[in-house]
Amino acid sequence: MKKAVVLYNSRTGNTEKVAKKIAEGLEADCFNHNNIPNLQNYDLVVVGSWVLAGHISFSGWRYMKKLYKKKISGKKVALFFTSGAPEDIDPTSDKEHPLQIKNVMFSRMEKLLRKKNNVNILENRFYTLGEVRINKNKPPKGALGHPNSEDLDRAKKFGESLRQYL
Ligand SMILES: Cc1cc2nc3c(=O)[nH]c(=O)nc-3n(C[C@H](O)[C@H](O)[C@H](O)COP(=O)(O)O)c2cc1C
Repeated sequence: MKKAVVLYNSRTGNTEKVAKKIAEGLEADCFNHNNIPNLQNYDLVVVGSWVLAGHISFSGWRYMKKLYKKKISGKKVALFFTSGAPEDIDPTSDKEHPLQIKNVMFSRMEKLLRKKNNVNILENRFYTLGEVRINKNKPPKGALGHPNSEDLDRAKKFGESLRQYL
């Protein structure tokens, strides 16, 4: 039987919640960046992270960079991320020519994964807002309450939509 796995890193829990919902919809295993297994037995790998200063968060970058060691080459790959900004805004880009955070993040993730691996990156991808907590002891700064139940329902449906690749 074909198998799927969801991988993620998460600092304040948003990306973890989303990863777990995707895994639920997809009926997949789910691991954080510190516990990634050998991927040889999987057919579909879902790779996720969150946005830090307009880039892939550091631990996200690090785990994705090392996925060649876990044998991701040859697999189908689907991408997702969470961020404090709506998908059409990149706060670090030129205000007169704003870049879409969604496009910036997905293309960065794609470039990084393709660097050492021959991966089949699927068109199906997922994005949602995640509440911004810069300092855990202070009130959140933005995207309050996200991912909310609607976001998590969408995440589950995204997982379900990926079952067609198994
Ligand atoms: C230090 C820091 C920097 C961030 N920078 C950005 C940013 O540049 N753009 C953005 O859209 N969100 C930014 N965010 C928001 C996070 O991407 C968002 O809250 C995400 O859901 C956090 O995921 P996590 O809960 O899984 O750690 C930042 C959050 C933190 C804590």
